[in-house]
Amino acid sequence: MTPQRLLIDTDPGIDDAMALLLALDAPELAVVALTTVFGNAPTATTTQNALALVEMAMRRDVVVARGAEGPLVRPALESAWQFHGRNGLGEVDLGPPRGEAIAQRAAPFLVERIMAEAAGRLVLLALGPLTNLALALRIEPRIAERVARVVVMGGAVNRAGNASAAAEANTRNDPEAAQIVFDAPWPVTLVGLDVTQQTLFTDEQMAWLAALGGAQSTFLHAAHRYYLDAYRRNKALDGFHIHDASALLYLLDPDLFVTRPLHVEVERHSPIHFGMTVADWRYSPAQPPNVEVCVDVQAEPLMRALKKRLARLK
Ligand code: BDR
Ligand code: CA
Repeated sequence: MTPQRLLIDTDPGIDDAMALLLALDAPELAVVALTTVFGNAPTATTTQNALALVEMAMRRDVVVARGAEGPLVRPALESAWQFHGRNGLGEVDLGPPRGEAIAQRAAPFLVERIMAEAAGRLVLLALGPLTNLALALRIEPRIAERVARVVVMGGAVNRAGNASAAAEANTRNDPEAAQIVFDAPWPVTLVGLDVTQQTLFTDEQMAWLAALGGAQSTFLHAAHRYYLDAYRRNKALDGFHIHDASALLYLLDPDLFVTRPLHVEVERHSPIHFGMTVADWRYSPAQPPNVEVCVDVQAEPLMRALKKRLARLK
């Protein structure tokens, strides 16, 4: 089978790092490039991390394009350093990467790459705020016709938020961009808190990860040690949820998930609720679905699939 061509927009980020290393290792995927964005850390940091991760995976053929430094129209929120550390990787120091991001910025790069692909061949996986994708749509709306689909880690349609009482972090970081991406005429699937919070990676799984002993799994263990401690400190939870890697697993094994076509609006006006993803479950003809939302997941098979892929890492 020909590997699926994939471009990943990301804000690494501890859980982004897990998703990226798994994507770069997946035989079913051909990762063509990474674009970076602010979110878990400032863009200068997420870009360095993306480069370091590509090098760790021995995939320097994968280009990295540096993206937006902040949201489309509102001031940037504080980055999520309490969960990801000041360096975005749980204070695990990977040293400076040898490679550099390409000169072209992420939005024009996305346009060029997408328009150069045959229609329907490229999938986008978005693991951070959707600013780069929204900017690319503004530059060239026809990119929406060319990609096969967009899988987004973001939102929460039937759950409380994580970054605020109402909103998930990626949609809260740039609600206007999220709305633009949801409304564009390309198939979008949301892998949000409704499913990602159904899986908890605990001390037991961490001990298993540590015992694997490869360079990548040892790094992931060290970074996720910080992440797990942050979950204990900030959420009183004895484990962490699988956010970004769940979006990757949706791409690789969609049968693990139940989805619904829904119309989703991203709240952009209320000072309390901004970034909240409000789904219209009435299926009103006035508001046809704009996205497909993962509403349920088989949590145990997902954990097994995750562990199987982690065990492959060098
Ligand atoms: C999302 O927010 C980020 O902090 C994580 O990397 C993930 O993409 C979870 O809400
Ligand atoms: Ca992320």
